[in-house]
This record gives sequence, structure tokens and C-alpha cells, in this order.
Amino acid sequence: MKLLILFGLTLLCGVESLKILVYFPLPVRSVGMLGQGIVRHLLDAGHEVTFVTVYPMKDVRPSLKQVDISSNKELVAKDESLMLSFMLENNVQDTDVLYIQTFFKENSRQTFTNENFTKFLQDTSQRFDLVLADLMESEVSAGLSVVYDCPYVWYYSMGAHWHVLRLIDEGKNPAYDPDYLTTTIAPFSFLQRVEQLWARIKYKALKTFITLPEEKKIYEEIFTPLLAQRGRTLPNYENVIYNASLVFGNEHNAVKHRPSTPQNFKYVGGIHIPDPVTPLPKKLQDLMDNAKHGVIYFSMGSFFKSKHLPQSLVRGLVKTFGELKETVLWKFEEDLTDLPSNLHILQWAPQASILAHPNLKFFITHGGLLSSIEAIHFGVPVITIPVYFDQFTNAEKAVKNGYAIRVPLSYDLPETLRPAIKSMLSDDIYKKKVTELSIIYHDRLVPPGKELVHWVEHVVKTRGALHLRSPALNVPLYQRLFLDLLAVILVILYIIRRIIKNLTTKTPKKTEKKKKN
Ligand SMILES: *[C@@H]1O[C@H](CO)[C@@H](O)[C@H](O)[C@H]1NC(C)=O
Ligand SMILES: *[C@@H]1O[C@H](CO)[C@@H](O)[C@H](O)[C@H]1NC(C)=O
Repeated sequence: MKLLILFGLTLLCGVESLKILVYFPLPVRSVGMLGQGIVRHLLDAGHEVTFVTVYPMKDVRPSLKQVDISSNKELVAKDESLMLSFMLENNVQDTDVLYIQTFFKENSRQTFTNENFTKFLQDTSQRFDLVLADLMESEVSAGLSVVYDCPYVWYYSMGAHWHVLRLIDEGKNPAYDPDYLTTTIAPFSFLQRVEQLWARIKYKALKTFITLPEEKKIYEEIFTPLLAQRGRTLPNYENVIYNASLVFGNEHNAVKHRPSTPQNFKYVGGIHIPDPVTPLPKKLQDLMDNAKHGVIYFSMGSFFKSKHLPQSLVRGLVKTFGELKETVLWKFEEDLTDLPSNLHILQWAPQASILAHPNLKFFITHGGLLSSIEAIHFGVPVITIPVYFDQFTNAEKAVKNGYAIRVPLSYDLPETLRPAIKSMLSDDIYKKKVTELSIIYHDRLVPPGKELVHWVEHVVKTRGALHLRSPALNVPLYQRLFLDLLAVILVILYIIRRIIKNLTTKTPKKTEKKKKN
């Protein structure tokens, strides 16, 4: 019966079941969850998906094939600089750009040399209608579209900003489009504007002279033999990485301070959130239902483990939470003993379902990208403790949007958290602001999953959606800045100056000659 309905639906829509390669190489669980969300929507729409993933899905269906690249986790497991304790020790506030670029480049290299993936790529019988690839700093995977001779679409786990816009349009002006690796957002002071310009020049220089040449080498090493097997030659790297049909951005209209985007940039933020949410486990449901004074939920996400926090800090937080009359849920990966009666440790937390509960008062979070979207989706104010990467910008945005209080990560956290909790509980402005944003967020033509499926089908139907591409892409930077015109004007001015100089120096000579005569 289900099959029959599906068949009828595909006939109606005029789109056959497509074969889609979805590529998510990052060993970051939250990004993996975004990938799973996308795959679910594509499968539900009747398409066949091959999912290259570090976090294989459990709900296996016949139309889903998975390429397990879970060994990519080694890249982060070994890196001490990515642990909470390290950040705390070194008071990390800024992100090292070259480190970031190198990390993602190495992630690409590791993925394309993974034995499971290599075996898959060497199978010349595979055909795809579209490649949907997670774009995070490294564009090497654009080569997949060349292998399968099909259009490709980027998925970007953040909002629109110049790092991604430069690939399909142009980087917007740094005077108002901030770099996500810096901590400020527009409007800028004079110094901040200079800082933004510098951040961009630095990023671009490192990418152009160090990272890009190495990525190009990886591209050539990996894809030349794969194309040879298929009797074709490899196009130039630069022609391939600027050839995306579309970009999906993991943000939405409720977040202000966004630069304008070209036609082929589509926001699908919230795609990973199940609708309706899965029911809470019975015990947790009862706990939240019966919390007379409301519930506070605390989680530092999945990437940073609370267990890497020093013991003194953990005990301090237990004490701070113990002073409250509200019920506190703390997502912590280890068992803690001697807990006050209002504090409950969850080793695994069904976050969306907790945030959806009407008794929840607010959320204490590191402000990662999923948590930021979920806070708005469910209309929950936050206390944010940014730790790394884009979390500083996310925190800045949340504070500017009026629904968040920012607290720095430090050994004094148990003390600095106290006044923030007090303000959250006593002032309802945060709840009011986040409710306003939540209304904007939910007011869309279609939910994000439907939107994604539509544009994926549109790109295949129109063979790459060339009609959506920005004209800026084909205009080199010197032309966009009119540097050639400037050069022409300078040359003309120079010539005029020479002529005037010649005239004024020649006239006295002539008179001299006359005098002699
Ligand atoms: C290859 O896939 C299998 C499961 O199919 C998995 O157990 C194994 O870890 C994968 N190997 C690598 C190198 O990722
Ligand atoms: C760029 O994309 C279009 C549309 O998918 C495709 O026809 C073309 O071959 C691609 N060019 C390169 C160099 O990959």
C-alpha cells in the first residue's frame, strides 16, 4: 500500500526516484546529525541515498546504502587542543585560522584514503544524479561531481557569510559581513572594521598560498586515476570548486545580521529537528511534568565532554545548582555522587524533547549550532558559555537578539553563572524576545525538509540550475573593484601631466633660441 501511494506521488510530481550521494566527512557528531536529518528527508521523498558518514544511521531501509568512514574520528580523538580542559587552561578565545584550514584539509585527505570509501569510488558501475556534500573549509569533495558526471550542491552547517558566498557569488563587504572565526558582529566600530578586513586578508592569503595548493594536489592524486578508469580526464581544480549548483545554509530568517545571498543560496535551518519530537522516556517525562518550580537544562554539547572539566569546577557547579529551587538536568557523561535532590544527571539527553517541554525555563549551553537553532525553534532563552570555533559568534548573535546571557568559560564559572541564572529567572524579557524570534522562524512557506527536497529535485531536473547562478562568479576581483578603470585613469593622468610638463619646459627653450637669433 505504502509503495502504491509512493508510486502515485512520484507520478504526480513528475520526478522519478533520484540517486543521491550524500557526503558528510566530519568527525563532529552535531554535523553528523545534520547529515542524518537530510538523508531522512530525501529517503522520505522516495529517493535512493548513499550516505558517506562517520556516524552511520541505525534505521536501515532498502533505499539507503552507507559507506562507513568512522575511522575519521581518530583525527579528533588524538587532538588534545580540542578538549574542554585545554580551552580552560589556555583561555582560548580566538581560533587559529591555519590550524582550522589544515584540520579540514587533512579530514578530506583522510576520507579519500579511507579503505571503505576508496573501494566504493573504484566501483565504476555506480551512477548518481546529484552529489550533496558537507562543505567545511575544504572543497576537495567537489571532485565527486566530476567522477559521477552530475551536478553538486553544498550543504553548509552555518549561515551565509563570505567563506561560503565566495564560492557561488562573492564575499560580501567585510565592513558589515563578519568572519565567523572572529567574535564580533556588525555594526562595527572603526577598529573592528579594520580587524575584519585584516581577518579576511589573512584567511585569504593562507588559503591561496598554503592550503589551496595542497588541496589541489590531493584532488589530482585522488581523482586523476578515478577518471582514468572511467576514460575521462580531470578538469582544472579551480573550474570545479566554483561550480556548485546551490548551497544549503543551516540558518533561518529569525537570525538577524545576515548578509544578502544569491538566488542559489537556500536556508534550511532546523532540518534536523524531528517534527513532532519523539516522546520523552517515562522517567524523564514524569520528572519534568512534576517539577513545581520549573526545569533548567544544562548541556555543553556532544563534542566537548563535561567529564574533561576539573573536579573542583564540577563540585562548584553542583553546589551552585543545589542552591536553586528549580529542577536542574545536567547532561554529563559520568556518574556523579552526593547530588542535591533537585539536580539530575543525564548521560544521554533527548535534547529536542527536553527543550519542547512546557516546564522548561531556560537552557545553559555552549552555543553550538544545533543548540542555537533549537533554542529558537522551541522558544527557549539561553545562558551561553561559548568555548570554540563559531560559538563566540553564535553567542554574540544570541545576546544581540536579546534572548541570551553570555558567561565566559573559566574556573570561576560556579560564581559567574549565579547572577546570570538569577537574571534569567527574574526577568521575562529573554523569554519574550525568543518567543518573537520563534514566531518568525516558524512562519515559512514550507518546512525546511520540504524545501531541501524541492531544490535538490529542481537542480537535477534543470541539469545543474545554471539559471540560478550569480553573474559575479565570472567577474574577476580586479574587474569588480574597477582596478582596470583606475589603471586607465592613472595612465591618462600621467600622460596629461607629461604633456603639460613638456609644454611648460619647451616654451622657455624656444624663447631662449629666439633671443640667441
Ligand atoms: C569500514 O566499515 C566497517 C563497517 O562496514 C567499519 O566497521 C570499519 O570501521 C570501517 N573502516 C574504516 C577505516 O572506517
Ligand atoms: C559545472 O556544472 C555543470 C552543471 O552541473 C556541468 O554541466 C559542467 O560540466 C560542470 N563543469 C565542470 C568543470 O565540472
